[in-house]
Amino acid sequence: MASPTVDIHTHIYPSSYIRLLSARSSTPYIYAPADPAECPRLIILPTDDSPSLPPSSRGRPIDGTYTSAAAKVAFMDQHGISASVLSLANPWLDWLDPSSGDPAAVARDINDDLNAVCALHPGRLWCFATLPLSARPESIVAEIRRVKGLPFVRGVIVGTSGVGDGLDDARMDPLWEALEQEGLPVFVHPHYGLPSEVFGPRREESGHVLPLSLGFPLETTIAFFRMYLAGVFSRFGGLKVLLAHAGGAVPFLAGRVQSCVRHERSSLPALARAGGERESVWNVLDKNVWLDGVVYSAAGLRAATEAVGKDKVLWGTDHPFFPPVDGKGEGEWESVRTNVDAVREAFRDDENGARGVLGMNAIRLLGLKLGPGEGGTLE
Ligand code: URA
Ligand code: ZN
Repeated sequence: MASPTVDIHTHIYPSSYIRLLSARSSTPYIYAPADPAECPRLIILPTDDSPSLPPSSRGRPIDGTYTSAAAKVAFMDQHGISASVLSLANPWLDWLDPSSGDPAAVARDINDDLNAVCALHPGRLWCFATLPLSARPESIVAEIRRVKGLPFVRGVIVGTSGVGDGLDDARMDPLWEALEQEGLPVFVHPHYGLPSEVFGPRREESGHVLPLSLGFPLETTIAFFRMYLAGVFSRFGGLKVLLAHAGGAVPFLAGRVQSCVRHERSSLPALARAGGERESVWNVLDKNVWLDGVVYSAAGLRAATEAVGKDKVLWGTDHPFFPPVDGKGEGEWESVRTNVDAVREAFRDDENGARGVLGMNAIRLLGLKLGPGEGGTLE
């Protein structure tokens, strides 16, 4: 039997989340056109909501691929994917205002909803829970402890803003502690990108290209190195983070960050007070970091593998984003094929390494028990 394939990076908006966004009229929101023949529009990115466009042309059309478990499984069958680890897509619950409702209650609904979606296809669907990051710290920790008990939850997904000031904020420590204690990996995923001005005055001519291809991965890169500099991985040595999009530029820039740290005179007094050496970036990559394989090239995948080890890179699709541009989703998606081909090329002489990245590494990290017959067929 062929080796199982697991999609570690695949999103869904469960119905409880769709209801929340449909009741809103500012980002993030779902715009329902007056003509029911037209698809509703999902407006989540700051760049989506340009006042120069009517709401019916903003963002992207949102169809069943974003919302339905049946569509997810059909996509998996079409691409020979044995199991998927679903995560709520951006912007999660980052935007929830605690003065107009209880974020913890909202998160409970969404996580129960996600768990129930997985229960429809046991052995094929698993999920990362979402956290009510605008709730009181004890409520966030309580949700971490609660989701550990949900049968299909295998970790959590977070954006890079944390409880408001980023993932290096000391107010995140109780969360890292709880996640470490519960053994729940944290999937760090971008949403905010970089300030749009860095892309220059002609940025709108290329639509989402610059924010998605550069802004997203650089956001993740910065978030990770900020965590490293704040000593998160030294305080919580057992914390497991999975970085989206192969860690962005993390594999390429790790050496430069390490060198800058070693040559930064202003950090010497603090280092001396802390007893000498700072843990190296390479050590942290080795013990705390997993990378997804959503990088669309063998060169990127080789860099990811070099940085964290071939048993810590996990294949994914980013479905339902990056659908075929001709609007025909029934055939093979080019974005999926490109990521499979990258594995095949990077691991041309290492069949076991390829099997690891395509599925076995995720099975091992998350303790997945696949159903009978889920051998997978991606070749
Ligand atoms: N991929 C995502 O996960 N989110 C987006 O908004 C776009 C691409
Ligand atoms: Zn994604």
